[in-house]
Amino acid sequence: MPLIQRVVAMPAEVRAACDAARARGLLVGFVPTMGALHEGHLALVRKARQNANFIVVSIFVNPTQFGPNEDFIKYPRNLDVDIDRLSDLADVDLVFAPEVSSMYLAGDETRVTVGALASHLCGPLRPGHFEGVATVVTKLFGVVGPCTAVFGKKDYQQLAIVRRIARDLFLPVTIVGHPIIRDPDGLAVSSRNAYLLPQERVRALGLSRGLLLASRAFASGERNAGVLRGLALAAVAAVATSVDYVTVADAESLVPFDDAAAIGARAVLAIACRIGQTRLIDNVVLGEDDLHAFGEDDSHAQF
Ligand code: PAF
Repeated sequence: MPLIQRVVAMPAEVRAACDAARARGLLVGFVPTMGALHEGHLALVRKARQNANFIVVSIFVNPTQFGPNEDFIKYPRNLDVDIDRLSDLADVDLVFAPEVSSMYLAGDETRVTVGALASHLCGPLRPGHFEGVATVVTKLFGVVGPCTAVFGKKDYQQLAIVRRIARDLFLPVTIVGHPIIRDPDGLAVSSRNAYLLPQERVRALGLSRGLLLASRAFASGERNAGVLRGLALAAVAAVATSVDYVTVADAESLVPFDDAAAIGARAVLAIACRIGQTRLIDNVVLGEDDLHAFGEDDSHAQF
């Protein structure tokens, strides 16, 4: 018997339910997703529950954040399975699963653009992607109203951009970032992992291996951006079909460090590459993230 109270498609209905919850003194927690829910999403829901007591999960594959040659059509969609997964949690009060026409009304022409934060890392490689994300997230915040919203740190640049939108537009939303959830062998969980063939799944471990090697070097005192980048790049290049970037960047501004630069106490090391046809991203915040995050035991033979 599903425990979720309601699955609704219309923005006005969601807003009314959230307003009613707030009027009853409840705190609204919000987890925006594109469905194909996995353990990473469920962790976001649990985190939301720690901060709030009326939990909304949106499931919406947002067309405006996909480029013309990206996987919008084949993006995995199975609302019934997603709802079952959320029902098992007993933590979700409302699922918002709108049609595209309810989120982008006839004549819709408003877009949210972000500045420099969107110009690094994935920005130049996915033109329009962050405008699509910024626009839909702003719309979703408008639908849900004041809330605490939880986003995963795997999409590090997305999280930085969402924080900036909430700040710059004075949105009544508190943004919470959740650590990357990894499979026991280190692979960051992602809806797109479902595309990987078994041998590609093995090759994909090169991403977390590269991040771990660089993290260990950082922990041992290495501060040269080029050396740290090179350690990750070698591991990624050994498995990837193509490498979009392996970049060491300022953790706040996302401005890349020159290879000659010495990084300070904290920097993000971010990777985007293709394994076969599948584009994967991963990252670590050097000086902040725990090495044990890469596996149950960081002396694991794989690394
Ligand atoms: O991270 C995602 O799943 C999407 O980019 C988001 C935030 C739900 C916006 O469509």
